[in-house]
Order: sequence, then C-alpha cells, then structure tokens
Amino acid sequence: LIDRDPMKPLEGMRVIVTTGATVEPIDPVRYISNFSSGKMGIALARRLFFLGASVFVVAGKTDVAVPSYLPVQRVTTTEDMLQVLQRSFSNYDVLVMAAAPADFRVSTVADTKIKREKEFSLQLIPNPDILAHLRQDYPQKQMIGFALEMRGGESHAKEKLKRKGLDAIVLNMVSPEFHPMGSDENEVYVYTKDGKEYFIERNSKEEVVKRIIDFLFLGVGA
Ligand code: CTP
Ligand code: CA
Repeated sequence: LIDRDPMKPLEGMRVIVTTGATVEPIDPVRYISNFSSGKMGIALARRLFFLGASVFVVAGKTDVAVPSYLPVQRVTTTEDMLQVLQRSFSNYDVLVMAAAPADFRVSTVADTKIKREKEFSLQLIPNPDILAHLRQDYPQKQMIGFALEMRGGESHAKEKLKRKGLDAIVLNMVSPEFHPMGSDENEVYVYTKDGKEYFIERNSKEEVVKRIIDFLFLGVGA
C-alpha cells in the first residue's frame, strides 16, 4: 500500500488550467484582445501543482510568466485554444477555464499591414464558446468557469453555469471602485451546480485562489 502524502491531497488528479487573453489578428502587426492579465490562472495552476495535481497550462497572452516547472502550450486565437483543448482534454480530469478568450474575431484578416491614410471598419464575428463545445465532447468531465460581470453579476453567472454545463463558476465583480483585471487583489463569489454559494472577500489573488481551491477541490470553507 502506498500512503498518500497529506501535503499533496490532489495527487493523481490531472488538471488543465487556461489563462490569459486570446488575441485575434487584424493584419500582420495588429490585433484585438482584452485586458486579462493571466494572474488568476497562473496562481490557480501553481496552487493546484503544489497540492499535488498534474497541471497543464494553456496560455494566451499574459502579463506574468508561467512558472518553468509547469508544462505550457501557448495559443493565439480563441479557435486555437478550442482546438488545443479538444485534443488534450481526454487525458485530463478537470478544466479550470480562467482564460479570457476574445469574444470576436475579424472576419477578413488583412495579409499586409493596413495603412493609416484612411478610415476603415472591421467586421467582427462571434467566436465559438469553448466551454460549450467541450461540454458536448466531454459530458462527464469536471469544468470550472470564470465570469467577470459589471451588474446583475449573480444572475449572469448562474445563467452561464447552467448554459455552459459547468460544475462551478467563479464570479469576479467589477464595480466603480474596483477592477480585478490586472489588479493584485480580487474578491469573488463561487456558485456550484448543486446550489452551493461561497463569498471570498477582498484579498490578494494568491489568497483568493487558495480559498477557491480549498472550497472546490478540498470541500473546505462555506
Ligand atoms: N469562455 C469560453 N469561450 C468563449 C468565451 C468565454 O469558454 N468564447 C469561458 C471563459 O473562459 C469563462 C466563461 O466562459 O470561463 C465565462 O466567460 P464570459 O466571458 O463571462 O462568457 P461569455 O459566454 O463570453 O459571455 P459574455 O458575452 O458575457 O462575455
Ligand atoms: Ca466573453
């Protein structure tokens, strides 16, 4: 018999953590994206790793480095991220979808640099919903989503939890006095598909992440 290491309660669990912003090209030198920094996702990946999980990081554009001890696949667009996850999820148990995929892509990417001389418009097409696609392909696997909402956050987050077939969703609130994107702090609500709710008050992203994982993976808190 092999004793489990009490310091590594997630030993044997295989987790994919997505992080950062995906980027959609406009021409060879320009893109549209969003302000996600990747801090939450990387903090989540580190914490899961230190608890013993096997962690694979799928990262868009991040302001912070992915630690060298974590295997990482870099992706550019939302469609790239979807493809990588569709191929790799079969080897994992849980998806922690902390990335901020670009919601739109440019309908026709210019193959040469667009000149500044005159006005022009971009036509944007909605990108596929990665979580919704993965839920179709992998009906049994655990998936945790993240949401960032300005108002009506609770009902929007709960609607996404249901619509995307998630096991849990972590809601980041943006208010006039606090914006979590890029900040070193956060405060979140966690909602689970079986109706549990957990509020984690303002703290460093590391501490908030520790509590999210204690709650969702170790059943501690709330
Ligand atoms: N997400 C996804 N595929 C997308 C966009 C988002 O899988 N194309 C994931 C995010 O990584 C996150 C969750 O869905 O875990 C909620 O993201 P959010 O941007 O709040 O959801 P959207 O469906 O894009 O809704 P909205 O129009 O409010 O941005
Ligand atoms: Ca979105």
